[in-house]
Amino acid sequence: MTGLADARDAAGADTAAIDADEPTLAAVADDRAEATGASHLAAAADIRIATPDDLTAIMTIERDSFATDAWNESSMAAELASPHGRYLVVERAGDVIGYGGLRALPGARDGDIQTIALAAVARGSGQGRALLRALIDAAAQRRVREVFLEVRADNPTAHGLYVSEGFEEIGRRPRYYQPDDVDAIVMKLDVRRWQERKIPDEGVRR
Ligand SMILES: CC(C)(COP(=O)(O)OP(=O)(O)OC[C@H]1O[C@@H](n2cnc3c(N)ncnc32)[C@H](O)[C@@H]1OP(=O)(O)O)[C@@H](O)C(=O)NCCC(=O)NCCS
Repeated sequence: MTGLADARDAAGADTAAIDADEPTLAAVADDRAEATGASHLAAAADIRIATPDDLTAIMTIERDSFATDAWNESSMAAELASPHGRYLVVERAGDVIGYGGLRALPGARDGDIQTIALAAVARGSGQGRALLRALIDAAAQRRVREVFLEVRADNPTAHGLYVSEGFEEIGRRPRYYQPDDVDAIVMKLDVRRWQERKIPDEGVRR
């Protein structure tokens, strides 16, 4: 994911309320899940826009997921409040079980997936893919053409997910993640190509 310094930049000085003009993300995710034959996922969990009230639940998952480089609470709060971002949560039975964030400045052609994480108990059942797709849909709604992200070189699960959605490696940042001394893989997705790609019967984009 994008580094904390970038995230802090993204939070910036603007903390205006999240605009409510894109309320259809859950519906978009549901439509996509149905289109990909994964409607059981849409029924099991809901993807909605994050609010400041989700901060505590998000921070619990954040700290569990990123032991050595979790964002602090104030940085996350600023991210949730930034008008330049779109944070989503996955909710199941009233509990937040995952979250992810997109940064896309108004009018910009490119955006960044800032972070994405599922609670440990919720991983491996397709929720991460559904959330990633909802974030890319949010980028498309903002007319973003290219989405970038960074992933730790020692995270094959996340890397595999991104590759299977069409992200391509465009570079590496040696020893980017400290104190673990792990490289960052920088990846890019062509949003239009992602939208146009045919969806095979099994529901997984290849
Ligand atoms: C990365 C993460 C968001 C993926 O979400 P998820 O719900 O576990 O993943 P999904 O069930 O949607 O699976 C999507 C793909 O991830 C990969 N994947 C999932 N679980 C995997 C595992 N145990 N081993 C290897 N690859 C795995 C596969 O490519 C899978 O696609 P497939 O089911 O078609 O094979 C989630 O595992 C997570 O929160 N991890 C900890 C935080 C993190 O690493 N975030 C990413 C930072 S860049």
